[in-house]
Amino acid sequence: MYKILKKEILSQDIEKMVIEAPYVARKCEPGQFVIVMVEEGGERIPLTIADYDRSENSVTIIYQIVGYTTKLLSQKQEGESISGIAGPMGQPAHMKNVKRVLGIGGGVGAAPLYPQIKKLAESGTQCDVIIGSRTEELMILQDEFGEVAQNMYFATNDGSKGKKGFVTDVLKDLIAKGEKYDEIIAIGPLVMMKSVVEYTKELNIPTSVSLNPIMIDGTGMCGGCRVTIGKETKFACVDGPDFDGFLVDFEELMRRQTMYHVEETEHRCRIGL
Ligand code: FES
Repeated sequence: MYKILKKEILSQDIEKMVIEAPYVARKCEPGQFVIVMVEEGGERIPLTIADYDRSENSVTIIYQIVGYTTKLLSQKQEGESISGIAGPMGQPAHMKNVKRVLGIGGGVGAAPLYPQIKKLAESGTQCDVIIGSRTEELMILQDEFGEVAQNMYFATNDGSKGKKGFVTDVLKDLIAKGEKYDEIIAIGPLVMMKSVVEYTKELNIPTSVSLNPIMIDGTGMCGGCRVTIGKETKFACVDGPDFDGFLVDFEELMRRQTMYHVEETEHRCRIGL
C-alpha cells in the first residue's frame, strides 16, 4: 500500500496528490510516468509524474477527473493509501544543454512540463513559460512555475488571465517581438501540440512534445499506445512519452484517440461525470 501524504484540489476537476513511493522516487526523472492502481484488482491508469522528492521518498501526481478510476482516486483522502504505483515508466525527457528554453503547458499538460522546466532551470538554462487553459480558474501550477521561470505568459480562452486566445497566439507574439529560443517543450492537448509544432517547424526551432495515447499495460506489449514517429512505429510507454514534435504523425494519433469515444461518453454518463 502507498500512503497519500498530501492531497490538494487545484481546480474544478484537477487534483494533486503526494504519494509515498520510495522505489519510484529514488529513480524517476522528468518526463517519466507511473501506473497507478487505486484498489486491488482495479484498473491501472498511467499518470504523469509532476514532481518528486527523493529525501521524502515521494512522488507527486496531478490528474484530471475524467473517468471511473480517476473519480475513485479523487475519493481517497490524505492519510489513506492506494493499492499500487509502478514506475518510473517510459524514458526520461531528452533535455539538452541549451541556453534558452520556452515551455508551453496546456491544461493539465502543465503538470508533466513542470519537472522538466524545474530541472532545466536548476541546471542554469533560462526558461520562459506559457501556460494556457480555458479559464483562469482551471489554470494550474502558476506559483510553482513562477519560482523557476524567468518570464511567465498566460493565455485563456475567455481572456480571464493573460491573452484571450491560445498559447500559440502568445508564442507568435513572443517570436514577433524578437525572442529567441534554442528549444521549445510543448505539452498539452494534441491539437495544441500540433499547432505549436506546425509553427515551430516553419521557424526550425526544435520542439519536443509529450504524447498520451491510450495505454493498457505500459510495458510495450499490448500495442495500445502505438504512435508513428518519422514513419517508424514506436510505443509511447517504452519509447516515449517524449518525442521530437517534428516527427510525430499527429493526424493518426488524433484518429486513434477518438477510437473509444462513444464507449467513454456512455461510461461517463453512467457514473455521472
Ligand atoms: Fe501497451 Fe504501450 S501501453 S504497448
